[in-house]
Amino acid sequence: MVFKLSLIMRLLAIFFVVLLTACHSLPSEKTTGDADTNSVLTKPDPHSMANFEDVAIHHINLELKADFDDQELKGHVVIHYKKLKPDVKYMVLDTRDLKIRRVSTTDSNQSLSWRMGEPQAPLGSALRIKLPDNGEAIKIDYHTKPQATGLQWLNPAQTATGEHPFLFSQSQAIHARSWIPLQDTPAVRFTYQAKIEVPEGLRAVMSAENSPELNPEGIYNFNMPQAIPSYLMAIAVGDLAYKKISEHVAIFAEQPFLEPAAYEFAKTEDMIDATKELYGEYQWGDYDLLVLPPSFPFGGMENPRLSFITPTVIAGDRSLDSLIAHELAHSWSGNLVTNARWCDLWLNEGFTSYIEARITEKVHGQERMIMEAALNLQGLQKEMADLPEAEQRLSTCEVELDSEDVFSGVAYDKGRFFLEWMEKQVGRAEFDAFLNQYFDDFAFQSVTSKQFLTYLQQNLISKYPDKLPLNTVKEWIYGPGLPDVLYVPVTDRFESINDDIAAWQNGQLKLSDMDTKNWTTHEWLHFLRALPEPLDQKTMRALDQTFDFTHSQNNEIAHDWLLLSIQNRYQVAYDRLIQYLNDIGRMKLIVPLYEAMMETDDLTELAKRIYEKARPGYHPLAQQAVDPVVKYADDES
Ligand code: BES
Ligand code: ZN
Repeated sequence: MVFKLSLIMRLLAIFFVVLLTACHSLPSEKTTGDADTNSVLTKPDPHSMANFEDVAIHHINLELKADFDDQELKGHVVIHYKKLKPDVKYMVLDTRDLKIRRVSTTDSNQSLSWRMGEPQAPLGSALRIKLPDNGEAIKIDYHTKPQATGLQWLNPAQTATGEHPFLFSQSQAIHARSWIPLQDTPAVRFTYQAKIEVPEGLRAVMSAENSPELNPEGIYNFNMPQAIPSYLMAIAVGDLAYKKISEHVAIFAEQPFLEPAAYEFAKTEDMIDATKELYGEYQWGDYDLLVLPPSFPFGGMENPRLSFITPTVIAGDRSLDSLIAHELAHSWSGNLVTNARWCDLWLNEGFTSYIEARITEKVHGQERMIMEAALNLQGLQKEMADLPEAEQRLSTCEVELDSEDVFSGVAYDKGRFFLEWMEKQVGRAEFDAFLNQYFDDFAFQSVTSKQFLTYLQQNLISKYPDKLPLNTVKEWIYGPGLPDVLYVPVTDRFESINDDIAAWQNGQLKLSDMDTKNWTTHEWLHFLRALPEPLDQKTMRALDQTFDFTHSQNNEIAHDWLLLSIQNRYQVAYDRLIQYLNDIGRMKLIVPLYEAMMETDDLTELAKRIYEKARPGYHPLAQQAVDPVVKYADDES
């Protein structure tokens, strides 16, 4: 990873705290009527109300029309299921804010009785359907609602060309249920087909096989032959251009982003080759990238066959393309082998962050990989310092949930450093072979931390009991903090920046004499983060005059500079700050800026004023994240 994840991870942490807290308020009477232990710890997935251990979806068939006037998807889904318990009478599906019109059998078109449970924020409402005595599929006619948490409907002004509306989904972790009634748990996999109708001239794409052809009538058919968990269901509709950039890679983007993205992400094919070489076949056919409008709330999302990517990483120099390495890596860690519950998130994100680093090393060289590792470690240590012990563990499934169990950058970076430690202990060749086998053995399955540990014991620890002492392994997975065995990434390039800063502070070196000509984004970020605090106006001005940070076209560098500008009241940068917060909706980049303003005595009004104007352009998740920060009160809600 390129940048410290602490802030976005804190957001995710808040998100998951809310989820986990909600688990406590689940009704003791399950809508299935089945016996329930009512314990979060023993629930197959505390974030799903579906009875997927009784009856499991294996295929779905979607037929939806994207109605931009009403901001609704309208149509039906046919759900193909298998009864796992022969006497099961009901199927319980996850939904949130869906309008169900009718539920029927598929063969004889007979109505089936159903009941929508009371909404249980934030899990949604359990849809309980009486299953036909004989049958393997049911049809649900439904509409989404404009406030669907998993969809963002953009008006033309929010797009790059400003001419057409745009729609995109973000289903992870539990938002698929806001646009499809289904078993919204990573423990269930299904294949899917879809027919999507969109306004003429627009293109629909999905986490499925995507055709390069634009359909003049606006009808798109999709097939996803590999079974995926619900959080990887994805759709986007917009004025999307298409460009194939290499044998297995194409880019979908609004026209103004197409060429810049093609240049920026030109290494993608090399990244695929590098990952295949390390971990075995890429199992998903082609690998395309969808460049979204700047309000996309994440850096990227690993929707299979079609990663969703923020345009904010288009820096012009490929310096931020580790994001692609990351989303691509999920094709193995996450999409192929999936965390069974969200408290096992590190099995997705920690493994992915490790693989991302391995890809970056192969494609961009060791030095860049180490710089990224060093930035990430700095971020992780800073974040951990503020986290209670319970939140510093990789696996939180085993601990009492009334302690503040959350997910954070811990899952990403501590997870990654854990795998790196194992790699260094047993040697690369051995560890690569182990991971390769792991992906093979668990392909298209979901795993828990416990299962992983058992597998690790059987396949690696048993061979190297001295190099991988079980206690240390357990300390990594279940213990707080970072074990002292951690390998600390050190790079001369950052050391020399530290020296420069010290020499400048001592008056021995002028800013303009620093040899920054060949600095990469990583070095600039390290420089900005290593500056002494606070900085007076004269120094801020000198930094800006020398390096022109206020006008940096690199969104990550601009972000760090704007943060410093808020903290040091450097008013010259405020116009850029306002522009930035109106142009970009990526949570990792915007939330820290609002937080920093709200931490001051004198900039809170500015924060509120900016937000008032920018909020309508933000994704529902970004709004949910920023609302409490700026104490925004939505009069309508
Ligand atoms: N799957 C995540 C995005 C995500 C995480 C969505 C949790 C919803 C809940 C994606 O792979 C990711 O980690 N993105 C990072 C990329 C970074 C670590 C390189 C991001 O968006 O910043
Ligand atoms: Zn990820």
